[in-house]
Amino acid sequence: MTNIVLIGMTGSGKTTIGKELASRLKFPFIDMDDYIEEQAGQSIPELFEQGEELFRSLETDVCIKLADSTDTVISTGGGAVLKPENRKWLKQTGMIVWIDRPINLIVKDIETAHRPLLKNGTDALYTLFEKRRPIYEALADVTVRNDQSLSETVDDILNQLN
Ligand code: S3P
Repeated sequence: MTNIVLIGMTGSGKTTIGKELASRLKFPFIDMDDYIEEQAGQSIPELFEQGEELFRSLETDVCIKLADSTDTVISTGGGAVLKPENRKWLKQTGMIVWIDRPINLIVKDIETAHRPLLKNGTDALYTLFEKRRPIYEALADVTVRNDQSLSETVDDILNQLN
């Protein structure tokens, strides 16, 4: 099998699901946001303070780098799919799995502290969702609804990939 790339809204569970999926497949796991923070030596809120554009360009650099990975589970940031260039790289990287979590569930339990786009609260999620949903849908090879347990969601991904 090749790489598996998880896409979806902020707070949809990509990191948690990605870790569990990687552990079941015995694949390494890479969280794109953690990778950006490591490379930049700064946190995502610190990067956003210097302008969202800076963060978005680092995100593109990482999309390009990760296209060289093999047998890896990669969790993307919610906005990594926004640039057509990134979409091209992600598609080239592996099978794209959209983690589709109902927005009311995201709003209920999302942690906003380290998410600069939500610094004024979760209302912004609805606009982001409207804009991004068609992009996730069009890019996905596989869609998994995350309104079930972690192990059921991971089973669902594995069943659809096999
Ligand atoms: C973002 C989502 C975040 C992070 C950054 C921007 C977005 O990742 O990349 O704060 O544009 O939706 P998560 O999807 O892991 O929250």
